[in-house]
Amino acid sequence: MRVVSGIQPTGQPHLGNYLGAIRNYVKLQDEAVAAGGECLIFLADLHAISMPHDPAELHSSTLELVATLVACGVDPNKAILFNQAQVPAHAELQWLLNGTARMGWLNRMTQFKDKSGKNREGASVALFTYPVLQAADVLLYQATHVPVGEDQKQHLELARDIAQKFNNDFASEEEPVFTLPDPIIPPEAARIMSLRDGSAKMSKSDVSEMSRINLADDADTMAKKIKKAKTDPEPLPSETKGLEDRPEALNLVTIYAALAGVNADSVLADFGGQGFGVFKPALAELLVEKLGPIQQRFVELKDDRESLDAILARGAAQAREIGMPTLKSAYKALGLIRG
Ligand code: TYM
Repeated sequence: MRVVSGIQPTGQPHLGNYLGAIRNYVKLQDEAVAAGGECLIFLADLHAISMPHDPAELHSSTLELVATLVACGVDPNKAILFNQAQVPAHAELQWLLNGTARMGWLNRMTQFKDKSGKNREGASVALFTYPVLQAADVLLYQATHVPVGEDQKQHLELARDIAQKFNNDFASEEEPVFTLPDPIIPPEAARIMSLRDGSAKMSKSDVSEMSRINLADDADTMAKKIKKAKTDPEPLPSETKGLEDRPEALNLVTIYAALAGVNADSVLADFGGQGFGVFKPALAELLVEKLGPIQQRFVELKDDRESLDAILARGAAQAREIGMPTLKSAYKALGLIRG
């Protein structure tokens, strides 16, 4: 069992990241250790330069994200926690895979279309080739399980396509170079939506701070954001069917259920018939109960720059070693003389 996943150190990590991905990093880290496997969690700092960015901010948010991940339960003694930039094999393997990835495949990526918007000509080349780097991230380590939110599913399918084509073109069936990774998407929190618009994903890049709960928000801020969250005038239904066509209500119920570890039906069994005047304070209380301890640990860890640097350095050394055999096999399979 080899668990691998990444998160970009841009903007503030939020509730969507936590419920969709980070919580599963922690769960799978423990499962991997129990199964005698490994779990590698990295900060996708190389991905972060695909969009306009401020270098000083990238540097500090990379270290802050290490503190956030540790505060959430990613344990550097169980998981290998590092940043891509300290493991050059990611960028190296991306170049090797660029020979296999097809323009047509990348042209179909919805994230590129979303992020480049109307300005395709002005988008960076890195934004276009971003999914190939993501494929390299997981294939380098022979990942078996990749915990992600639903928005990354298409990128993972591309990684599988690249692995399969590379294996077909350059390896034998008995000795494939790459393992095909499986995405692990939590059904209860695959896609947490914006608090301001139930049809848009909760996202670090949303200009409105009110659209998301950041993991570093204090209790008052969380409560304020829930209070102001967009809803509709109807009371909550007593069955999930009644949430169809009510995306904002559905999102708040989804968040409650995911935090409480129950399903939406059981939330509605408790709150069906109640208005948001009752449901929102209960949700805010649950959020503070679950995220408060994370926020506190984050505050304790975030200024200990020396420890954060040390975690990354140690993780990177381990990752370099684990990735090396696959990188070498990829060079060899392509007929490149590397020495
Ligand atoms: P990123 O940094 O945008 O998000 C990190 C993780 O959080 C999940 N996520 C969500 N899940 C549910 N609801 C949401 N609203 C929500 N928003 C974000 C994402 O699906 C992701 O799992 N390209 C990746 C980083 C990456 C990566 C990788 C991931 C680079 N290489 C290799 C896995 C494997 C990204 O930008 O995630």
